[in-house]
Amino acid sequence: MSAILEVEHVTRRFAGLVAVSDISFKLGQGEILGVIGPNGAGKTTLVSLISGTLRPTAGDIVFEGSRITRLGAYRRARLGIGRTFQIMRPFPGLSVLDNVAVGALFGHTAESDLAKAREKARAQLDFVGLGKFAAQRAEELGGPNRKRLELAKALAMQPKVLLCDEVMAGLNLVEIDEVIEVLRKIRESGISILVIEHVIKAIKQLSDRLLVLHHGDKIADGPPDTVLANSTVIEAYLGRRRP
Ligand SMILES: Nc1ncnc2c1ncn2[C@@H]1O[C@H](COP(=O)(O)OP(=O)(O)OP(=O)(O)O)[C@@H](O)[C@H]1O
Ligand SMILES: [Mg+2]
Repeated sequence: MSAILEVEHVTRRFAGLVAVSDISFKLGQGEILGVIGPNGAGKTTLVSLISGTLRPTAGDIVFEGSRITRLGAYRRARLGIGRTFQIMRPFPGLSVLDNVAVGALFGHTAESDLAKAREKARAQLDFVGLGKFAAQRAEELGGPNRKRLELAKALAMQPKVLLCDEVMAGLNLVEIDEVIEVLRKIRESGISILVIEHVIKAIKQLSDRLLVLHHGDKIADGPPDTVLANSTVIEAYLGRRRP
């Protein structure tokens, strides 16, 4: 499988803290890579380093064979890297539809016409099951629908790689299954996915490969069954409950 994204010896420090420490891995074309790890392991930092909202202290990010380490988030979005935010950031005052249309205006296949952007946005809202909320203000959406909105916003940018940061957090089992189905369809459409999740059952079902972070280190990377049976992983992650 050829790699669409390569993370090469990436480190990110915050003052004295090493949030991500010399991490290397590849995301294959069309792959779903699951990323797990306890709270504070460095997962969101990793997504920010790939999407460009943070710069690495050391190391490189390579997208489709080109080094993008120094490019801003906007340029990376244009190249085809889309992300969702763990802490949802709807544009307040805008409708659900226009929140997604903004994605279509700034993404990979940037649409310059607002009517066309809204058309694309409507298709994405239907796809994630938010069609009937299109006219509501985004801040009025409840938790699960906000997660769907994050996905629709990222998808409207028509990314080649989608980085999902806990899009299932706070959802019930039925809602989790729905999101799993949506993510599978996204992959079928040719998008490669990196998905951060705490819900082990979901990530196991969904991922082709699993990567485990702990205190900024990569402690495992491989097939989900093998990784979840690894004693270092069990000790670091599964043995401990979230606070
Ligand atoms: N902007 C920042 N400034 C200082 N420290 C930060 C910053 N962002 C993250 N950190 C620290 O880096 C470490 C990794 O944080 P990160 O948010 O990447 O973890 P995470 O794996 O996403 O955790 P969670 O499962 O709780 O979302 C934590 O110790 C966190 O406090
Ligand atoms: Mg996080």
